[in-house]
Amino acid sequence: MNPLRKVVIPVAGFGTRLLPISKSIPKEMVPVVDRPLIQHVVEEALAAGLNEVILVTRSGKSAVEDHFDTHFELEASLEAKGKQALLDELRAIAPPELKLTTIRQPQALGLGHAVHCAAHLIEEGEPFGVILPDVLVKPQPGESAVDLGDMATQWRETLRAQIMVEAVPQAEVQSYGIVDCGGDEPGAGASMTMAGVVEKPAPEEAPSRLSVIGRYILPYRVMTLLEDLPPGAGGEIQLTDAIERLIQETGDVDAFRMRGRSFDCGQIAGWLQANAVLGREAGYGENLSEPAEATA
Ligand code: G1P
Repeated sequence: MNPLRKVVIPVAGFGTRLLPISKSIPKEMVPVVDRPLIQHVVEEALAAGLNEVILVTRSGKSAVEDHFDTHFELEASLEAKGKQALLDELRAIAPPELKLTTIRQPQALGLGHAVHCAAHLIEEGEPFGVILPDVLVKPQPGESAVDLGDMATQWRETLRAQIMVEAVPQAEVQSYGIVDCGGDEPGAGASMTMAGVVEKPAPEEAPSRLSVIGRYILPYRVMTLLEDLPPGAGGEIQLTDAIERLIQETGDVDAFRMRGRSFDCGQIAGWLQANAVLGREAGYGENLSEPAEATA
């Protein structure tokens, strides 16, 4: 069995929910505390042992890949000034084990299509992860183990696909992929067999309130299932539909319930919340209140 090392990160989206911020800055480059969103996500992948990162991108998004490139002039200038700590921090953005590849999604035909654009980079029989970078997944305060790492371990032990889920309010189910665990639900940090998954169901038709968070460990078969998938919800080729077919075909798909916290940074409220909560935890708490009046 091929080892699990690759992760596909689609970054070709327009970021309409973050406009006007995302008009000329890729949404993956918006800062969350002290680094761009994409850096948090690549750190998560590396922490989970997924060091071969495939960015599915498009024109106008080169800042995303540039972030992981060497900035020779900047490094030379910092070196000349003896700013070693800053240099080390910059170099840590792309540690030696990170192998980054970028490919293009020529047309915005949906998440399933974006993932399938990487099909030729995944070998037959090779598993792969998918991370949707809008959603930031962080461990609980004081904890360090990343949920994606636990999903990778589950895959290695069971060879069953792992789909990260968490509960959302009933009124919000139509914004997500919603999973069916046969009326039951996994406990935090645990996996449970999925009976089905449906993309953006109406609240009255949703099989549960467990939503797909945007972290997946999938077998190669998903790539071939995506090949001839018709458009689904919203007229787009949906990754969820390929996973539903995999469930019907093999039954080897689990819902993994996250232990950590998710922040939907693809929209203003979630992005602000991530900055407020994670900023406070990073020690910026006192500066996150009203500015103090100047004293003479
Ligand atoms: C995508 C997936 C959906 C998932 C969601 C998580 O939807 O299709 O299944 O629940 O991401 O953020 P999108 O947000 O791209 O519409």
